[in-house]
Amino acid sequence: MRETLHSAVKLLRLSWRQHRGKTAVSLALVLSNSVAAPLMALALKWLTNSSVAGDVGGAGMAGVTVAACAIVVLTLGHFAHIAYFELSEVNLLTMEQRLILLANGSAGIEHQERSEYADRLQVLQQEIQQVQNGLYAVLALSSLAVAIGITGLLLALVNPVLLLLPLVAIPPLVCGQRAQEVLDRAREETAPDTRLALHLFHLATAAGPAKELRVFRLQNEIQRRHHELWDRTTDRLWKAQLKATGLRAAGQLVFAAGYVAAVLLVVSDAIGGRRSIGDVVLAITLAAQVNQQVSAAVSLMHDLQRIARAFARFEWLEKYIAEREPHPADLPTPIHLSQGIHFDNVAFRYPGTDRTVLAGVNLDLPAGSTVAIVGENGAGKSTLVKLLCRFYEPTEGRILVDGADLAHIPLAEWRGRIATGFQDFARFELITRETVGVGDLPFIEDLPAVSAAIDRAQASDLVAKLPDGLAAQLGKSYREGVELSGGQWQKLALGRAMMREMPLVLILDEPTSALDAEAEHVLFERYAEGARRVGQATGGITVLVSHRFSTVRMADLIVVVADGHVVEAGPHAALVRKRGLYAELYGLQASAYE
Ligand SMILES: Nc1ncnc2c1ncn2[C@@H]1O[C@H](COP(=O)(O)OP(=O)(O)O)[C@@H](O)[C@H]1O
Ligand SMILES: [Mg+2]
Repeated sequence: MRETLHSAVKLLRLSWRQHRGKTAVSLALVLSNSVAAPLMALALKWLTNSSVAGDVGGAGMAGVTVAACAIVVLTLGHFAHIAYFELSEVNLLTMEQRLILLANGSAGIEHQERSEYADRLQVLQQEIQQVQNGLYAVLALSSLAVAIGITGLLLALVNPVLLLLPLVAIPPLVCGQRAQEVLDRAREETAPDTRLALHLFHLATAAGPAKELRVFRLQNEIQRRHHELWDRTTDRLWKAQLKATGLRAAGQLVFAAGYVAAVLLVVSDAIGGRRSIGDVVLAITLAAQVNQQVSAAVSLMHDLQRIARAFARFEWLEKYIAEREPHPADLPTPIHLSQGIHFDNVAFRYPGTDRTVLAGVNLDLPAGSTVAIVGENGAGKSTLVKLLCRFYEPTEGRILVDGADLAHIPLAEWRGRIATGFQDFARFELITRETVGVGDLPFIEDLPAVSAAIDRAQASDLVAKLPDGLAAQLGKSYREGVELSGGQWQKLALGRAMMREMPLVLILDEPTSALDAEAEHVLFERYAEGARRVGQATGGITVLVSHRFSTVRMADLIVVVADGHVVEAGPHAALVRKRGLYAELYGLQASAYE
């Protein structure tokens, strides 16, 4: 309850900050609306008594008052809506922006990679929409509070016993609250199923998977699974709805009994001559209003509770991210590398899991070198790379950059000095030059810089063939947008990685998996020349994860990862001579090409 009121205050404060005038006008309109309803009941009493007494003038005036109140009740709410509608939209926008900030506000990516947190983000994304109704709920609730106060006062004047009426309104409130808890629990429990169903839906409707769905004849299977998940979800939700409805009905029943008793009480007063007929009309009208007020209050409280929960989740996320603040950033970011990067007995376990993914990694990446990482799927190559990007911190050991512990280097500066290209690259549906240019934001408008990066990624041909070249709008989201193939998107992602000309580390994690081996070979042969030149000047290191040994063999240092361990490291010739795992894998691939 306190949380709910708290979030009401937060919401009002949020609106107040967006627009004071509109918030004040909305509040004033809604409040005058709430005074009008009980006043109408009072005017009805006046009208009845004047009519019974044969006072034509009084009855006429009372009638006009009733009409005026009715007009206020019917129209002011509408005007208020106009005033707060826009505010609600702005509130929603603000919350969405805060969510974007929060989702990306942490150093690491754990909350997006772990299912229990991903669930929370998912629920939050939905709940945030409630904020739009939230302002209405707060305004309506404050107006209800005033209305209930006036109604209570008038009822007390008729018969103090009638003041018990709002008391019988408590059971529906409590039951309503319980009902909401039942529903929320059900929603939280069904979130994983809903998420999977959504994934299946995307699989079944997106262009990418369409080919595999047809060839493997998976349409029915996906549909079956989707159906099964929804069946399970709706079944669970339906049961929760039934239970919640039962609870709510029980609460309302208590109130209904109280209402009937109240009416009987006033009627018996009137029969006994202690009250006028007008009082009976007043009491019946007011009691009916109490009923409306209570059910409105209950449903508004539900809305507010949901918002309170969304706020609580928000705060959870804020706290979670604040708690994950990295180590004190008390060491400077090197400008150049003179020694290189050293993995000092690094071990790693993904948070919340108990499997050690990397163990006892001792590794030197010399300044100015190009390093290739090879190993089977799941060996731990990408994890190694994620540690270098500091998406996660090592569970044990340290990563030293020219002798300085990476964990103590200011994160933002470190991120500014590395560049990355990933296998699961992002598709920025922007204008081509921006899609590449975002790789180094300060230079996004610098056409020569963007062109040079595209050239380094050997994507110039691709861009030249686009209808508007660098100015072409990319992506299916636009009618005029050009849709690229996976390989073409990947080349632009590589261009993005090439935007920063002299990074301390360029990390390429299977960035050309969509290219053929020959194209990849040519690309890196040309790239490596440039990288060596830059490497000699700044000590910058290129780390490349690849499965193509024709590319890998060009590297100065090859690191072989197997099952979370570095099993071999050295230049191609030395590793071949050693006749270990590398020689074996290399031999397999080489013979396949003969
Ligand atoms: N976000 C994650 N949470 C938990 N385990 C993960 C996560 N990402 C990868 N893993 C596990 O870590 C191991 C190494 O994965 P990864 O480094 O991606 O392998 P590679 O890039 O060599 O194919 C795998 O067993 C994988 O299942
Ligand atoms: Mg990988």
